[in-house]
Amino acid sequence: MEMGEQIGLARFGGSLKVESVQALAAKLSSDIPNRYIRPERAEDIVAGDGEENSGERIPVIDFGRLFDSESSVEEAAKLHSACKGWGFFQLVNHGIPEDVINKVKQVVEDFFKLPLEEKEKVAQLPGQTEGYGQAFIHSKEQKLDWGDRLAYATFPPNLKQLRLWPTNPPSFRETFDAYAIEIKRLSDELLKMISKNLGLGLKELYDMFKGGIQIVKCNYYPPCPNPDKVLGFSPHSDATGLTVLLQMNELQGLQINRKGKWLPVKALPGAFVINVGDIIEILSNGKYKSIEHRVVVNNKKARLSIAGFHTLNVGDVVGPIPEIVKGDKLIYKSVQFEEYFKMVYASKVEGKSLLDRMKLDA
Ligand code: OGA
Ligand code: NI
Repeated sequence: MEMGEQIGLARFGGSLKVESVQALAAKLSSDIPNRYIRPERAEDIVAGDGEENSGERIPVIDFGRLFDSESSVEEAAKLHSACKGWGFFQLVNHGIPEDVINKVKQVVEDFFKLPLEEKEKVAQLPGQTEGYGQAFIHSKEQKLDWGDRLAYATFPPNLKQLRLWPTNPPSFRETFDAYAIEIKRLSDELLKMISKNLGLGLKELYDMFKGGIQIVKCNYYPPCPNPDKVLGFSPHSDATGLTVLLQMNELQGLQINRKGKWLPVKALPGAFVINVGDIIEILSNGKYKSIEHRVVVNNKKARLSIAGFHTLNVGDVVGPIPEIVKGDKLIYKSVQFEEYFKMVYASKVEGKSLLDRMKLDA
């Protein structure tokens, strides 16, 4: 059997099954079950009232300008300071056809509208993290997030388990695939500039990531009668390399940890939110930071997003790149990707705890 064939992402670990929050929210008549209540929210410090009043805005990078010889140097410098100082930016003028984006939004929306039994046809199986379900759940006591997910490995081809993908709506598979290809290309191109900005050759990171694993995950955050008591997604940093996030509607929910406060991200229409993940923090020996973020929900409308995670592959090493480290103190260890990714799936979503375990002095 080829590596990865049949078992897909399950080679890295699984998660316990939990109830659909969408179904729970729809039948909720009294109090929210205790497993969703987050006492820590009482200590929330949110920056301003939305970004407008907080004085800070996450940087905006123009993809077209990055690759136009007239403006490339200037835009690459902006990208460098965004990766270094923020770990997050919005990407405009990215060139992904509107049609590809509109279609994927439609099939994902249509999927979540289906009756539970229909969605359950692609329910995550025991020991898996692909399909309709939840990852990172390892105990019956663990607090739960107010959200459902539908996730698949989309690259490389041998990891894809198409039989687990929905056939309802009928165009789901081809549409999801087309979208995955576009954002993989976008991520690869961005990695060229990031590589150059880190003092490597244009193609160094690109070459490392081009055969890497891509996971595309749809998030569905139902409205909650008591939104201030729950979290759509617990604080975490993305364990992967580069994340391309599409916020599917105008609702705010994503917040990033900015100088100890939660800064709400207001998505620009048509833009992607891009963030540096743990693997890039490790490869760059801490020059770029993978920033903690979380999702809050509202009491009116479901919020949907699609996150595309780009990472390395089995056989690669996750560790600081010597040309970047040069004479600096080595901060992170080097481990085999497989070992690293097993660690990811064995952990709970808990801030930057995984990165701490990758530290040499840990
Ligand atoms: C994620 C994530 C943010 C969002 O899926 O890792 O951070 O807005 N999602 O859904
Ligand atoms: Ni995330």
